[in-house]
Amino acid sequence: MTQPQTIEGVQGLLSDQGYVCGRDLGTVVFLSLRLGRPLFLEGEAGVGKTEIAKALSAALGRRLIRLQCYEGLDSASAVYEWNFAEQMIAIRTAEAAGGVDRGHLKDELFSDEYLIERPLLQAMRPQAGGAPVLLIDELDRTDEPFEAFLLEALSDFQVTIPELGTVKAPEPPIVIVTSNRTREVHDALKRRCLYHWVDYPTFDREIEILQARAPEAADSLSREVVAFVQRLRTEDLFKKPGVAETIDWAKCLLALDVISLSPEVIADTLGAILKYQDDIQQIQGSEAKRILDEAKASLEPA
Ligand SMILES: Nc1ncnc2c1ncn2[C@@H]1O[C@H](COP(=O)(O)OP(=O)(O)O)[C@@H](O)[C@H]1O
Ligand SMILES: [Mg+2]
Repeated sequence: MTQPQTIEGVQGLLSDQGYVCGRDLGTVVFLSLRLGRPLFLEGEAGVGKTEIAKALSAALGRRLIRLQCYEGLDSASAVYEWNFAEQMIAIRTAEAAGGVDRGHLKDELFSDEYLIERPLLQAMRPQAGGAPVLLIDELDRTDEPFEAFLLEALSDFQVTIPELGTVKAPEPPIVIVTSNRTREVHDALKRRCLYHWVDYPTFDREIEILQARAPEAADSLSREVVAFVQRLRTEDLFKKPGVAETIDWAKCLLALDVISLSPEVIADTLGAILKYQDDIQQIQGSEAKRILDEAKASLEPA
């Protein structure tokens, strides 16, 4: 699949994958593809950062390679490691056969056959459909040394394996880095990328997303759900509901054959949108009714 030639082209491709993409996001995605620059997406959890990488890889017919970050992630898990167990077996086998040629054995033990490729190395390898989409997900969960290491890998799209040499990507992968901003990611890395803050969607856009992701939901229910969630996000909560929660909630309500929100229904299903007991306690009861009333009022034609 050739790359889209316009911002509208990007939006169209993503929309074919059920991803609703506004013009602002469409623009940075377009530029990232056009300029071959990594895209850094930051925003609260559940606003569609990870999903865009999936949608983009599907839309472009490229392989998706995902590096899920976590505390303590090191290069053995991110780039490559040697298959130690297999190497041991090979050594034992060679010893048993007698006459071990040390030089030869060493070359063999550190060849492709014993190399376990992790996401970053995989992303440097040529792929059938063209350069892959490399998703470096939730970078804020790693530590600074790993960030520094990543910065280097992303600047020349190559990794060096001392025993084998340097592997360089024939064509740079399409890189998407995400962060939920549990900490600030270093400037140097951000500067290497195009940056976009993914905000909670507006009412209209969230309705559109719901239509794409939960098309079974009736219009009136979708509007109530979105109006309620949008109001809920203005409350002082420990963890505000993301788009993922809106979709989940709509699906729960559908499964319960709910056609319109009521305080009782909300109380029974609040766990679909709020995931912290303190938040649930705060909203349950009279608060839920107040927010629902406000949400319904906002839906009435002026
Ligand atoms: N713009 C969007 N269009 C379609 N679906 C979306 C959109 N934004 C979020 N979603 C839905 O929300 C879910 C969570 O999004 P995700 O990408 O995992 O969030 P994040 O990575 O920002 O935490 C996705 O599985 C997708 O179904
Ligand atoms: Mg994510």
